[in-house]
Amino acid sequence: MKTVDLVIIGGTGFYQLDGLDLERQEPVETPFGMTQAPLAAGTLRGRGVAFLPRHGPGHEIAPHQVNYRANVWACSSLSPRHFVSINAVGSLNWDMPPRSVVLPDQLIDYTWGREHSFVGALPLSEMYVDMTEPYCSELRRKILQAGQGILSAKSGVLGVAQGPRLETAAEINRLAHDGCDLVGMTGMPEAGLARELELSYASICIVANRAAGLDGQQAISMDQIFSNISQGAARVLSIIERLLDHMD
Ligand code: HPA
Repeated sequence: MKTVDLVIIGGTGFYQLDGLDLERQEPVETPFGMTQAPLAAGTLRGRGVAFLPRHGPGHEIAPHQVNYRANVWACSSLSPRHFVSINAVGSLNWDMPPRSVVLPDQLIDYTWGREHSFVGALPLSEMYVDMTEPYCSELRRKILQAGQGILSAKSGVLGVAQGPRLETAAEINRLAHDGCDLVGMTGMPEAGLARELELSYASICIVANRAAGLDGQQAISMDQIFSNISQGAARVLSIIERLLDHMD
């Protein structure tokens, strides 16, 4: 099988990888069940690339119901050199406005009740993984290079909330006090599972909205969220193309 240079999990608003010259596309069975969607594999910019939409092909699956273990296991089965996760997020930081693209360097997990470890399938002794730096520093360096002139921020703390509802203004205040710049719903357990499998994993975040309560008491509009994500998604695709062009 051709080397997979990059596997990508797409989030809200990123359900396919434009330009991917498809070689195969099939759901993958794992010890944890099926992937949420067929895993697409093919060529992009002359590189082996695979793509999986996290929430299913038409966004059928809520953030707390995603089978993260099946998705990450299936991606890992391709032995990819790198693994990029795309996450739609709200912003708590005025320097990260809607439509901007941010490369987080840290995260805080506020999720609960999700299957978040491969313990059982793999020996417990291998599961006490270090998470000091939750993302692969080598991959982040490459994305930073590829994202020059596109990324609005080169670091940031991503808080991962349970969803699927958005947060209250008080919850966002608490996250701000905790040091979060961004808030999403899908960054964990994905990053932890990727670390358990020793994958070179990083997240690229698309800012969909200002987090709850930061635009006065104005309610967050879903139409606005989707419109902002689609503009940010075009920029993420440019970063991915450049990342592939510069991969050695
Ligand atoms: N909160 C949590 N997740 C999100 C948000 C938000 O405001 N926007 C997009 N994903």
